[in-house]
Amino acid sequence: MNRKLLALMLCGLFAASTAEAAPKKVWITLGDAAFLQLQKLAPATIAKESKALLANEGLIAAERVHLVEVDEQQLLGLSAAVHHELHRCGGFMFHSSEAAGRQALQAPVTLLATLRPSYVLDNQSVVNALLPQMQDSNIAQTIVDMSAFANRYYTTNNGVNASNWLKTRWQQMSAGRSDISVEQFSHAGWPQKSVILTIKGTDNASEVVVLGGHLDSINGQGTTENTRAPGADDDASGIASLSEALRVIVASGYKPRRTIKIMGYAAEEVGLRGSQEIAKSFKAANVNVVGVMQLDMTNYKGSDKDIYLYTDYTDNAQNQFVANLLTTYLPSVQIGYDKCGYACSDHASWSGQGYFASMPFESSFTQDNPYIHTANDTYANSGNQAQHALKFSKMALAFMVELGSDGPAGPGPVDKVENFSGKLALGQQQSYGPFKVAAGGRVSVVLAGTGDADLYLRKGSAPSTTVFDCKSDGPNSTENCALNISANADVYLLLNGYAAANYTLKVTYRAQ
Ligand code: BES
Ligand code: ZN
Repeated sequence: MNRKLLALMLCGLFAASTAEAAPKKVWITLGDAAFLQLQKLAPATIAKESKALLANEGLIAAERVHLVEVDEQQLLGLSAAVHHELHRCGGFMFHSSEAAGRQALQAPVTLLATLRPSYVLDNQSVVNALLPQMQDSNIAQTIVDMSAFANRYYTTNNGVNASNWLKTRWQQMSAGRSDISVEQFSHAGWPQKSVILTIKGTDNASEVVVLGGHLDSINGQGTTENTRAPGADDDASGIASLSEALRVIVASGYKPRRTIKIMGYAAEEVGLRGSQEIAKSFKAANVNVVGVMQLDMTNYKGSDKDIYLYTDYTDNAQNQFVANLLTTYLPSVQIGYDKCGYACSDHASWSGQGYFASMPFESSFTQDNPYIHTANDTYANSGNQAQHALKFSKMALAFMVELGSDGPAGPGPVDKVENFSGKLALGQQQSYGPFKVAAGGRVSVVLAGTGDADLYLRKGSAPSTTVFDCKSDGPNSTENCALNISANADVYLLLNGYAAANYTLKVTYRAQ
């Protein structure tokens, strides 16, 4: 049955609320489009809070996001209306409490990974040797195997078994490599576990590259134990693309310098629940994730271009890096650009925590696979092929190797380091620079000390606390900020004493 013709087909929102003894109140955050539909149907629905989400370098999308409290009764009508009017499920994030929902509306404070990784392609011989080993037949097999579960819904035994199956499959694939481990990530609210494979970095293990897809599936009409929801494209295809990249990495003996983590998320279809818990736990543990790639639907070729990079809730600079990987390593692959709106897949869980994320997709947004969330999301309905998913698998491998091969950050041979220290009284400011940074280089600043000093950088002229190209203004004096410089530039630095502080400052930059 065609998903888009089924006006009253209910999506994950409703299914999630009825398949279990749901709490009376459900907190969700939604984008503009979905929220307007909710208001049309139930004018009484009010947003507790609405906000345009901001990231370090500007707006992350041109839409506002709303926090809404709905109860079960409302959800039925609301999700039907969203589906009827928008012809799709509205992307949404589920929150276990009002406080968690409000937190999701806050701009990610300081990006942990403000020190950008290098996006220079300097592993061409490795990548070019591995790409020809990748085979669509292996991807097809994983898709067929995962589709064989009646469903992979987050609350069913089938869904639990699918997670266990994936863990075993990845363990078998990496047997013999003591640097690779596979774990399940348990979630308190439901039985299906996420699966995380870790390839430990050789000498830069604290920096982590994350690639993921979701292992769960859903039938939009409601999913119980034996409901058919093969999810061949959504998202066995993403897991299969990642698995084939893993196979070739293991077969070649390639060992990354950074740690690589490959994730199969639980409970994506019911509000990005698995990936939100994982991304939040990584942030809370200060894990230095330098880049995230999400593969959700890679095998249905619905558009003329091959790979569409979604530009909302993703990182522009990292997306350019991904485009560069494609033009360099897969020159026949045609690149498109589109958007998928608020919370459409797990990359949003990572970008919501301030990490750099990308979401390469199988088609333009409106030409995606019409069978998803139905019993007909099968391998056959993706054309009995895995050639399309193979392109994503190759791209993922190039991403792993090019980001995975970099050593610990530190001054390069031509980088200049300048150290400063001082004291600030409350409200006092101190300026440094200009630092003359060379085209193609980078300036990164690390502040340490007591009290609460904040850090601002600006290209071309002096920053203020309101005008800057980069800032770091956390609640203490542990701050860092970095800028990539495309043309020779004078970079100015400002320290602001938000509270009195004693500080040391280290400025590393590619000198002109
Ligand atoms: N794979 C889809 C996302 C998707 C579908 C992207 C179609 C582009 C086109 C994902 O599994 C999904 O269904 N997302 C939901 C939101 C989710 C939080 C319930 C969506 O976007 O409607
Ligand atoms: Zn889906």
